[in-house]
Amino acid sequence: MTTATAGKVKDLRDELPKLGLRNHWYIADASRKITEKPTTIKMLGEDLCFFRDAGKVYALDNYCPHRAMLLSEGKRYFPGTITCVYHGWTFDVHGKLVAALNEGPDSPLPGKVSVRSYPVEERNGYVFVWMGKGQPKPLEYSVPADLLDPKNTIHVRVETWGCNWMPSIENLQDSHDTFTHRTSLWYFFRRLPAWVKVGSDVLPQKNGVEMRMDVLGPPQDNYETVGKWPRSNWWRKVAVNSNQKGKYPTSELTMPAVVRVGFEGLRFIRLMVPVDENHVRGFLFTARYAPGLQAITYRLYYHLWASWALVNFFIGQDKVVFEKMDFSKPERLAASDVGIVKWRRLVAEAWKREKEEELEADRPEVTGRPELVEGAERAA
Ligand code: FES
Ligand SMILES: [Fe+2]
Repeated sequence: MTTATAGKVKDLRDELPKLGLRNHWYIADASRKITEKPTTIKMLGEDLCFFRDAGKVYALDNYCPHRAMLLSEGKRYFPGTITCVYHGWTFDVHGKLVAALNEGPDSPLPGKVSVRSYPVEERNGYVFVWMGKGQPKPLEYSVPADLLDPKNTIHVRVETWGCNWMPSIENLQDSHDTFTHRTSLWYFFRRLPAWVKVGSDVLPQKNGVEMRMDVLGPPQDNYETVGKWPRSNWWRKVAVNSNQKGKYPTSELTMPAVVRVGFEGLRFIRLMVPVDENHVRGFLFTARYAPGLQAITYRLYYHLWASWALVNFFIGQDKVVFEKMDFSKPERLAASDVGIVKWRRLVAEAWKREKEEELEADRPEVTGRPELVEGAERAA
């Protein structure tokens, strides 16, 4: 256990991947949203084209290698293929060019041109895509088991936030909770500590960090310079006493951008997907094992209470902070940010490893352009 003082630490933000780690599975969407009609989803700075063929989901790079028309505008004329609407180049579900309709049946291009295809897995009603190169790891490497277990009752809200992916998750490793959310409905009838001291551990097995509230201050405390905080606490004298150790759940932050908080049988899980440098898509899950009739009560609880008190209001308070803070300005991290420091170190190391592996692999990107230029030159 470490309740470390972060003190003056090296600013690692320039060593973090602005578009997220690559060698991981990311959630694309709910299964029911991906149909035979191609659709585009932007993730990690790239546009991917998703579609379903014979019941299975496929993902291709969204730019046709010919003239970069969007494949998501494509047509599904032939089984097992997608045809670009501009000149009719037709690719199989794995991205290989099988016909160039505009060039005729004797075109030499089929078999020589391809568009990148991404490994896809569909599990428990959701579609996941492997964004790295090379052999994908098992889905469990990047996705918490709670979301893959069909026995759990799961709700999800999807939102896009106007901030980089890092600030959207690293606050789950600091001590803002009883300050920022003090005014939330979720905490309104709870007696909260005036301050907390957090501790953080690296979780090597889980590829992440865990934060705990190690010391809880009194419900109200006196600060010599400004006086009492909270300034008024009278209604909480009759509230549920949350000012006790063990009343606050630990919070896990694991790669690639997964937050997991377990609380009284509920699991709050955020799968964050970097969209571009300044936007992140959040899949905000609430999961509970609720067999039989319990599932009905749990659904009522979610729709009548948790969905607005927690997801709308509580997480809404986080969103305001993320979108208004400036992630490029200098920071002065403190002891309460120890979890953030540990998390950034892990991400920076993982990103360095990914770049080294890519250099080692030294695999040329498969693209149609060299052949096309060759063919075009011959024709000219
Ligand atoms: S741009 Fe796609 S076939 Fe020409
Ligand atoms: Fe928060």
